[in-house]
Amino acid sequence: MRTVRVELGERSYDISIERGILKDAGPMMKALGLKGMAAVVTNPKVGGLYGALVVRSLEEAGFRPVVITVPDGEEYKSLEEAGKVFDALIEGRFERSSPIVALGGGVIGDLAGFVAATYLRGVPFVQVPTTLLSQVDSSVGGKTGVNHPKGKNLIGAFYQPRAVFIDPDVLKTLDARELKAGLAEVIKYGVIWDASFFSFLEDNADKLLKQGEEIITAIERSCAIKAEVVGKDEREEGMRAILNFGHTFGHAIEALSGYGTFRHGEAVAIGMAMAASLSTMLGGSKECEERITALLERLGMPSVPPAIGTEAFIEAMKLDKKVSGGRIRFILASGMGKVFLKEVGEDALREFLLLQGDLRQG
Ligand SMILES: NC(=O)c1ccc[n+]([C@@H]2O[C@H](COP(=O)([O-])OP(=O)(O)OC[C@H]3O[C@@H](n4cnc5c(N)ncnc54)[C@H](O)[C@@H]3O)[C@@H](O)[C@H]2O)c1
Repeated sequence: MRTVRVELGERSYDISIERGILKDAGPMMKALGLKGMAAVVTNPKVGGLYGALVVRSLEEAGFRPVVITVPDGEEYKSLEEAGKVFDALIEGRFERSSPIVALGGGVIGDLAGFVAATYLRGVPFVQVPTTLLSQVDSSVGGKTGVNHPKGKNLIGAFYQPRAVFIDPDVLKTLDARELKAGLAEVIKYGVIWDASFFSFLEDNADKLLKQGEEIITAIERSCAIKAEVVGKDEREEGMRAILNFGHTFGHAIEALSGYGTFRHGEAVAIGMAMAASLSTMLGGSKECEERITALLERLGMPSVPPAIGTEAFIEAMKLDKKVSGGRIRFILASGMGKVFLKEVGEDALREFLLLQGDLRQG
């Protein structure tokens, strides 16, 4: 078993990574001192595939599990659905010591985590992420929340899980497109933190797509990098912002092309290619940009922005959370594994977007 420790004082926890770990969820939770009723929050697809396995493991370890099912889809990461989960917990008389287990991708993890943070002012929370994106990103670091009709993730809380159990075998049932969307975040960790990890990804691109042992190393290293960043800046007051490399462009692409057109990871892939290009324009290394774009393409991810008008692009980026005084903040790469924060004025940004060619002049 591979273990990554998230160091946050008394809220520290382990991320355990092993093929087949789902069947050990019960004993591992018991070993943490958890017991009694356990709510397994999942959706019909993931619950249908893996719910029975987790429930059996919990029962065998002496828990009384209850499955709470939320419909599948980002649109159900809402206060309304959270309300239904609260109803089920209250009706089931779940107590302050009863753990909530999130079994699913980032949507389930964020929603169940928000419920765990707020039900009875906080109950033990365990993440069992089942998409690559949730294994390397959303299950680590304690951001939980739901969407508001006016914007994504507007309502939420920082709330750390007691444990994260990652089973790489569950990725076998994941759509190829979802796997690639997760790989975009994996690449991001190489760019922002670890040039040798980026080289490892370049050397093993085909094996990653085929889910060889290399995917486990990629998950472990990604979790370790995120854990290190979150350990230094849990509430995004400074350094944690480097995790947003590619995301300012990516969020604008997601919003302007209509949520659902691109998976989040696909928009981030295009956003990273754009951030790499902006880095080059502002003095970064052309070689670094070329390596990022080449790896994205080898892993089958989009790197070319869709047709979006320059002005619409700028307006969408201004709505992002990372704006101060009209200047938009970007995480840029000065070289592989080295990033810095840069505020870019609208004129420079307009020039950059125009230089990107006619692609966004639709
Ligand atoms: N909290 C954070 O720090 C953080 C970070 C990044 C993203 N997020 C959030 O994560 C969400 C996206 O997460 P996601 O990409 O995992 O999407 P998702 O949760 O919607 O899952 C994608 C699809 O894969 C299915 N699925 C999940 N596991 C499966 C499996 N093993 N086999 C077959 N199908 C499976 C799901 O049912 C769903 O249809 C967004 O809401 C985003 O805001 C949160």
